[in-house]
Amino acid sequence: MTSKLQEGILVGCGNPLLDISAPVPLQFLEGYGMNVDDAILAEERHMPIYRELVDGYQAEYLAGGSVQNSLRIAQWILRQPNVAVFFGCVGQDDYADILREKARAAGVDAHYQVSPDTPTGTCAVLITGTHRSLCANLAAANKFTIDHLEQPANKALIDNAQYYYISGFFLTVNPPSIMRVAATANAKQRPFLMNLSAPFISQYFMEPLMAVMPYVDIIFGNEAEAHAFATAQGWPADADLREIGKRLVALPKINSERPRIAILTQGCDPVLLIQHDKVQEFPVTRLAVHEIVDTNGAGDAFVGGFLSQYVQGKSLDVCIRCGNYAAGHIIKNPGCTYSGEPEFNE
Ligand code: AP5
Ligand code: NA
Repeated sequence: MTSKLQEGILVGCGNPLLDISAPVPLQFLEGYGMNVDDAILAEERHMPIYRELVDGYQAEYLAGGSVQNSLRIAQWILRQPNVAVFFGCVGQDDYADILREKARAAGVDAHYQVSPDTPTGTCAVLITGTHRSLCANLAAANKFTIDHLEQPANKALIDNAQYYYISGFFLTVNPPSIMRVAATANAKQRPFLMNLSAPFISQYFMEPLMAVMPYVDIIFGNEAEAHAFATAQGWPADADLREIGKRLVALPKINSERPRIAILTQGCDPVLLIQHDKVQEFPVTRLAVHEIVDTNGAGDAFVGGFLSQYVQGKSLDVCIRCGNYAAGHIIKNPGCTYSGEPEFNE
């Protein structure tokens, strides 16, 4: 990093979750009616999963929650603490202490709302070979309220930031908070970035997603998420990722002077950057099988790498290359974790 960045230049909101990750047999998933690549919210029938993982399997605790993952990765690359501020809700328990410590160690300035009578949220990461199935029990994360953003100190943090990033996942928790941040970004003409996060968001939360879409300057997503969005919009079933990207950027936008950009990842295939009706491809360096630990958090790390450059005013080209660098790195590490010093060269 060359020059010092303003502290708190980037604000993120999301679900702070502690990941409980373990390899499990297929029957474990089947017992809970889950598929190998799911990302779902826990229902009543899923609640025993967490205890069962801890008691019966080699469970690992890892800091999770999509936006926090991205901010931790951005901070790792920036090497200057407190560039990123995070808002979300935790409980008053050991899990919250773990998350607080992981955020601090990574350099993320987390300002948690605390729900005293609800446990901190967890996400079961069920690993079957190279697949992972996610089941999030939001718990305290679901208790986030807009009053937290209205606290004078937190409001000041939002007002002073220059960049805003919120996950689609947060739409299940508190759309008014998202709209508040989006409106602030728009009023100050500052970029507002969002993620499609998971197919179920487009399937079941399209209304709040479309309410915020006019404010979104950059939208991120992977293949499955883009297709789920297209299906929910009733777009032609044969629309490919490029076509979906073009339609995404063409959706109505409040600040029409800053046209929307879509960035769609597709695993080891090239990342697509869609602007107007132009699609650019950015190749991904394919990793050898023996280098891959797990792809968990690859999408989150991509966004983290992107943000680390974007907040420095770097070109989209550099931002995307850093996204690919960060994703490649965390694939070589368990969950969304990193090791050693970052080695990204523009
Ligand atoms: P998870 O879904 O595992 O992580 P992710 O970041 O979405 O990563 P994926 O592996 O799904 O990647 P992707 O499909 O998005 O991207 P793509 O494959 O295109 O989620 C983990 C976290 O989600 C957990 O920590 C959990 O806490 C959180 N979470 C779950 N539910 C939540 C909820 N309700 N609320 C909040 N948080 C929640 O790849 C992206 C990039 O990776 C590519 O562009 C490329 O650069 C690289 N890449 C991918 N595959 C390869 C490869 N084979 N070789 C080289 N590079 C690769
Ligand atoms: Na990983």
